[in-house]
Amino acid sequence: MHLAKIKLRDFRNYRRLDIAFEPGFQLLLGKNAQGKTNLLEAIYLLATLRSFRGVGAAQMIRQGQKGFFVAGEVTGVHSDLLQYYWSAQERKLTLNQNPVKRLSEFFGTLRAVVFCTEDLQIIKGSPRIRRRFMDLLLSQTDHAYLGTLQRYAKVLRSRNAVLKQHRPDQQVMEAFTRELVSYGERLIKARQQFIPRIFPLVRHAYKRISSGAEELTMHYKTTVPKDFFGALLKHRDREQQYRSTLIGPHRDELQFALNEQPVAQFGSEGQKRTLAIALKMAQAEYLTDVTGSPPVLLIDDVMGELDENRRRGLLPLLERSHHGSGQVFMTCTEENWPRELGRNLKRWHVSDGGIQGSNK
Ligand SMILES: Nc1ncnc2c1ncn2[C@@H]1O[C@H](COP(=O)(O)OP(=O)(O)OP(=O)(O)O)[C@@H](O)[C@H]1O
Ligand SMILES: [Mg+2]
Repeated sequence: MHLAKIKLRDFRNYRRLDIAFEPGFQLLLGKNAQGKTNLLEAIYLLATLRSFRGVGAAQMIRQGQKGFFVAGEVTGVHSDLLQYYWSAQERKLTLNQNPVKRLSEFFGTLRAVVFCTEDLQIIKGSPRIRRRFMDLLLSQTDHAYLGTLQRYAKVLRSRNAVLKQHRPDQQVMEAFTRELVSYGERLIKARQQFIPRIFPLVRHAYKRISSGAEELTMHYKTTVPKDFFGALLKHRDREQQYRSTLIGPHRDELQFALNEQPVAQFGSEGQKRTLAIALKMAQAEYLTDVTGSPPVLLIDDVMGELDENRRRGLLPLLERSHHGSGQVFMTCTEENWPRELGRNLKRWHVSDGGIQGSNK
């Protein structure tokens, strides 16, 4: 699978961009603040409908304009056209010119994994970011998961709204609680089954790029006991006091430890960085295993930041991805691009919201 074409209108600093890409390695070169990361952001948006910078869609509209439009043609076994228009008043999402009714139809058409400086937040940031990592990967590979996740989020909002009322209606409360339990249990089960599948990939990737011999472990810690419904009943008073649902998969945690010490508190900066990259490498491998083809890799500046060991560790993944039908987009400034990747790459020059192919 690869991104064969992209079209941008009023996206960040791109007024108009229409460009075609081959499979293989695409190196985006350019000075600072020219639009390299913005292009990766647009590609990632087509894959996940989110910015990897963690910002809302409004920020991605070109300054002074009303809305942005991003379209991509994805070529795999067949060809699919993804289109996304966003403005404060209107959102339009289509797949092959048909309005998308369920996000799960759209998700997974373009599968992408991004490597960027924000990745460190998966280790350092709040549990929400780690849950999002799991939820994204599960959504990219399991159509039912995304639907369940959306329904869970919706009933959670409704239930929390009832808890905020002065005298919650007990019947309404019970109906929401039953629904919450039903979707919540499905999410927890899917996550619990996912951990033993992803863990060997993370451990392997970590070993490959770290020089230390420390033992990595990964653990899904749920707030939910066996009897979810019973526990919610038991916590009713506390819930009313806090006016929100206190247990459930929305409060669960994904924990990492090195030699049994939690990485977030005890890991060195280098260990955290290594683990963040290992997680992304594992994400790419997992997607390849489950779907049979490598995802598009979006690599923003990270090579420049990595030491020899970690760069070398990342290379096999890049090599594999740009063989066959895979595709890699990597941004670099002119000075720091990794020369060891000198073979078979297509160079692009990014300048002031424009892109030109180049042979040197
Ligand atoms: N909504 C927007 N509208 C117009 N321009 C924007 C918008 N958001 C960002 N920009 C501009 O885009 C440019 C930054 O683009 P980008 O982040 O892609 O740079 P880059 O080429 O990756 O640079 P670096 O090498 O520093 O990472 C800046 O000039 C910024 O002002
Ligand atoms: Mg950048």
